[in-house]
Amino acid sequence: MNNAELIKFALEARKNSYSPYSDFSVGSALLCGDGTVYTGCNIENSAFSPTNCAERTAFFKAVSEGKRDFIKIAVVGGKSDEVLPENYCPPCGVCRQVMKEFCSEDLEIIMAKAENDFKVMTLADLLPESFDKREV
Ligand code: THU
Repeated sequence: MNNAELIKFALEARKNSYSPYSDFSVGSALLCGDGTVYTGCNIENSAFSPTNCAERTAFFKAVSEGKRDFIKIAVVGGKSDEVLPENYCPPCGVCRQVMKEFCSEDLEIIMAKAENDFKVMTLADLLPESFDKREV
């Protein structure tokens, strides 16, 4: 699956964002090694800390369905009234650490503003010198 197709899934998932507190809607689409795609959106909570990011939603959906092999993830995020986000949305530190648990350092993270406007970085780029399960 090419990046534009994966971004399209993320843009669709963003429409399901539940973000009444931040008014910042995020969507994600995670491509598995077997070609399946798991999408996610951010899901906020009035108590704030139970909020789940779009990336973790996609990862936890996939892992809970037995998937462990991941190729790339597309992320789109911005103010909820922007149909296409004005800026790229880099994954938060917690989501990067969740990616680290299940992915190799060459996981591609596609930060997109639109299907044809995106920036690609690897997990190694975004989380250097990271804590790893090998250390536990
Ligand atoms: N958020 C994500 O879903 N993914 C990110 O990579 C950054 C932040 C969410 C969390 C919260 O619901 C809102 O965006 C504002 O921080």
